[in-house]
Amino acid sequence: MQESLLVLDFGSQYTQLIARRVRELNVYSEILPFSVPVDEIKRLAPKGLILSGGPQSVYDRGAPQGDPGILELGIPVLGICYGMHWMCRALGGKVAASAKREYGHAEISPQHESIFFRGLSEKGKVWMSHGDRVEALPEGFQSIAASDNSPFAAVEHPDKKMVCIQFHPEVSHTPQGKPMLRNFLYEICGFRGGWTSARFIEEAVEAIRKKVGGGAVVCGLSGGVDSSVAATLIHRAVGDQLQCIFVDTGLLRLDEGDVVMETFAEKLRLKVHRVDAGERFFAALSGVEDPEEKRRIIGGLFIEIFAEEARKFKDAKFLAQGTLYPDVIESTSVKGPSAVIKTHHNVGGLPEVLPFELVEPLRFLFKDEVRRAGLELGLSEEIIWRHPFPGPGLAVRILGEVTPEHVAVLQRADDIFISELRAEGHYRGTAQAFAVLLPVRSVGVMGDGRSYENVVALRAVTTEDFMTADWARLPDALLNRVATRIVNEVKGVNRVAYDVTTKPPATIEWE
Ligand code: XMP
Repeated sequence: MQESLLVLDFGSQYTQLIARRVRELNVYSEILPFSVPVDEIKRLAPKGLILSGGPQSVYDRGAPQGDPGILELGIPVLGICYGMHWMCRALGGKVAASAKREYGHAEISPQHESIFFRGLSEKGKVWMSHGDRVEALPEGFQSIAASDNSPFAAVEHPDKKMVCIQFHPEVSHTPQGKPMLRNFLYEICGFRGGWTSARFIEEAVEAIRKKVGGGAVVCGLSGGVDSSVAATLIHRAVGDQLQCIFVDTGLLRLDEGDVVMETFAEKLRLKVHRVDAGERFFAALSGVEDPEEKRRIIGGLFIEIFAEEARKFKDAKFLAQGTLYPDVIESTSVKGPSAVIKTHHNVGGLPEVLPFELVEPLRFLFKDEVRRAGLELGLSEEIIWRHPFPGPGLAVRILGEVTPEHVAVLQRADDIFISELRAEGHYRGTAQAFAVLLPVRSVGVMGDGRSYENVVALRAVTTEDFMTADWARLPDALLNRVATRIVNEVKGVNRVAYDVTTKPPATIEWE
């Protein structure tokens, strides 16, 4: 059985980061809500537990309270921030609001020798982000590090293999956080490690074969990272039992349809059925200007077309989806439902209209692990590091009505921008970059004459999670070349603007 660590989520914004860090250290980890019953933990038999931070105070009414029984299982536990407070309080210690709040950078110095800090330098910078602190330790605990503001920045019960820390080892602002986590995993919990992409692929291939047997699997291929990796992985497992459907909406980037076919059908030899559905999408979008209406139409039509195609595979029993772990966690998370600002119509909704069983081989992977698995499967860097592309495609990058003419103009402008970004080595450094067509006309001069044409806006952002974003500080010379090329090479555009708004208040897309 695969050894694993469980992260119990008390609502911290960093919970997923903890699980990712642990996996980067080659230990498989999963996230469960703080309220998970002790019996469930026993059943999963993890070799270690990490209790996440959380925004509340342990003594607040309604603050998340785990089952104290989890502290009696004999499994090593690391409590981080709120996790520390809850744990210390549950074991008889005292927690209170700190008179002097310690937020942001702090320095800790060791108080007592401990395996948790083994091999690390004497003093270290750490990241704090809570107003409470432990004031009195539970029995058997000792301080192993202090900060200016607290004698108990890190405490442990060596016999019970419990460590509690006030700071966050998972964030990059704690430079020695990773070695600390490594000590916890390997020296305290006794993990052997071995969670790697190669191992994941091996296990996934076996699991897919077992589940699918001799049946056929239908998979929606979009050319994006997730569906590309999912399809390639399933292909490795069951070969030509996999039938990919690629719906070309006519709203993709320049030549994207051909590139997808070249990569997957010709080079990788997957069975890919391309549906050229541009005309149907343009007809459905005719006269539509409202962004949400566009999304609804495109999402609905996509499902309709995909279902039509999928039904042609009479012996298909399974539908592959590139669902990732963050989507899975979202649905079980302790956090309140996050505000839905835009409706995202992707392939969701398909299972309801089709009588298929789902195959979701990436269900337990984070995005960075999907990328590593994809590279291990032989997919090119170009596919693996592709910027995300919205399901409704260029339709939400053309303000107002979407016409084939507008799409053609935007595709060319976008292609110039992206090619120049790649050529100058700025593609990987930006999280997402694209052109937007503003079909309003502005005045310009061309040769001796006056021009009256459309505007293209360039958007390039840096972001970790796409929830907040900053505009990318691209070099002047690069922007200059892109602007010159667009107005010279793309008929119908005489002005280029660069979007310098952050998210929030703006969004990344323009619609
Ligand atoms: P916003 O514009 O909300 O975008 O800041 C955040 C991320 O979501 C993508 N996005 C979409 N993806 N269907 C999608 O599949 C959509 O309707 C959609 N709208 C925005 C956007 O490209 C960015 O990566």
